[in-house]
Amino acid sequence: MSETYDVAVIGGGPGGYVAAIRCGQLGLNTVCIDAWKNARGRASLGGTCLNVGCIPSKALLESSERFFQVQHDISAHGIKVENAAIDVSAMVARKDKIVTTFTAGIASLFKKNNVKSVHGTGKLLKRDDSAEAWRIEVVDGDTVQHVQAKHVIVATGSVPRQLPMITVDNDRILDNAGALSLSETPQRLGVIGAGVIGLEMGSVWRRLGAEVTILEAMPEFLMAADAQIAQEARKIFTKETGLKILTGVKINAINTGDAQVTVDYLDAEGNAQQLLIDKLIVAIGRVPNTTGLGVDENGLKLDERGFIVVDDYCRTSLSNVYAVGDVVRGPMLAHKASEEGVFVAEAIAASVNGDGQQHEVVDFNTIPWVIYTAPEIAWVGKNEQELKAAGIPYKTGQFPFMANGRARAINAASGFVKVLAHAETDRVLGVHMIGPHVSELISEAVMAMAFSACSEDIAAIVHAHPSLSEVFHEAALAANNRALHI
Ligand code: FAD
Ligand code: NAI
Repeated sequence: MSETYDVAVIGGGPGGYVAAIRCGQLGLNTVCIDAWKNARGRASLGGTCLNVGCIPSKALLESSERFFQVQHDISAHGIKVENAAIDVSAMVARKDKIVTTFTAGIASLFKKNNVKSVHGTGKLLKRDDSAEAWRIEVVDGDTVQHVQAKHVIVATGSVPRQLPMITVDNDRILDNAGALSLSETPQRLGVIGAGVIGLEMGSVWRRLGAEVTILEAMPEFLMAADAQIAQEARKIFTKETGLKILTGVKINAINTGDAQVTVDYLDAEGNAQQLLIDKLIVAIGRVPNTTGLGVDENGLKLDERGFIVVDDYCRTSLSNVYAVGDVVRGPMLAHKASEEGVFVAEAIAASVNGDGQQHEVVDFNTIPWVIYTAPEIAWVGKNEQELKAAGIPYKTGQFPFMANGRARAINAASGFVKVLAHAETDRVLGVHMIGPHVSELISEAVMAMAFSACSEDIAAIVHAHPSLSEVFHEAALAANNRALHI
């Protein structure tokens, strides 16, 4: 009989690897099974986020933004740079190095926290009621091994949603992995889907000189965001970044030839149009990944969209089997996945140690969203259209970066911060930002909401001068009709 672990985690992305580390820290005998292989065919921990998601995309966004600034913004500081050029291979190699460093770092963290790492695809086998542990079959090529554990955490993540009429080949038709690994800047780039990936990857290649056209099915731009933020973003992305964004589009056909890709679509007015491009990124959302997990046999319940069904405590339909991250309901974000991983690890440790301590469930309302474009977009809580639809009385306070000294000093004064607070109680209900470094500024808003702050509480806090955070402060003052610098 092989060793029985306290916990087996299936999936080594930010949901799974963080859960495994926390289990290890809490003294649980833990194994993490992960199937990811990098482009060189080597096992690589970190899942989508580290290999082809959050980290590599931010590396390329940074490089491309610096190149763009050298070309367009730096002259405002009196700095002259002539004949600036970009070496795309070097840029991509830098990104790859960051990825390798971090994925290897997870292997070290596993060692440090006594987490055993097993490479391969894990299938949760059907269990009879008398068995005391779950058995997982792990397949890696011709090698098959079995792992036994009392508790299982499924963190198998998500994969890109496909268009029915075309197959991603990562040559001309790219998904996120292909879009992060181009060896040169395409002259004409098409993107299907003006969501988070479409905007981030479209920005990268636009800043490096590609003509970028984004085709979006929805009638409005960035419908998940506050409508006012979305409107401002569209204006800036069109005028300053130079993205061509078409909404209300219906894709009819996509054909690839040796020389180019042809996209036939109907525009918002219903007129037939054709887009000719060199490369096409398909970024139309992601779907939960349960491939290879054995759901047909083990009885793990999925919902109609393929997500593993869980309750607020991330418990699945099977006893002692939990699921976290992109493979379950809620925002598909790395920090949400990790937070659920920690929560489940602590819940398992509490049940194993018998302390019965009930941990607080993850609050989706205080999970921040960030889109790493220039300017960045960030929000937390409810937006104005959601408050209107729910009939919640609210007041708003808004302040532009243009009136902020630090924003002017760094030559990045587009955008604004908007605070939404309850009209009667003044409790902060949502904060929406577009502007420089708002990926960092949003944390203060998250903290405020997590501690149930009122807009007056934020208004009463001293913010350093000159700093971008003063814009949040002034927006909170504005919600109380007390803004000073406007
Ligand atoms: P994943 O990261 O998808 O990891 C799942 C792992 O499980 C993978 O390694 C997979 O190989 C493995 N696996 C699957 N099935 C099995 C099996 N049967 N057996 C063994 N292993 C298996 N989120 C942010 O918060 N911020 C960002 O800036 C951000 N940027 C992104 C940029 C891009 C281009 C993309 C595509 C995504 C981005 N995301 C971002 C989303 C983020 O990557 C995901 O929300 C996050 O990775 C989800 O973590 P996870 O652990 O649930 O799943
Ligand atoms: P998304 O859901 O953000 O956007 C997809 C877009 O494609 C939507 O606007 C949708 O209306 C559109 N679309 C769908 N079908 C279409 C069609 N047939 N034709 C034209 N448009 C169509 O999904 P995306 O960009 O693929 O990203 C997936 C997820 O990854 C995100 O939702 C997010 O959870 C995560 N992510 C997070 C990032 C961050 O936090 N900064 C960065 C990148 C991804």
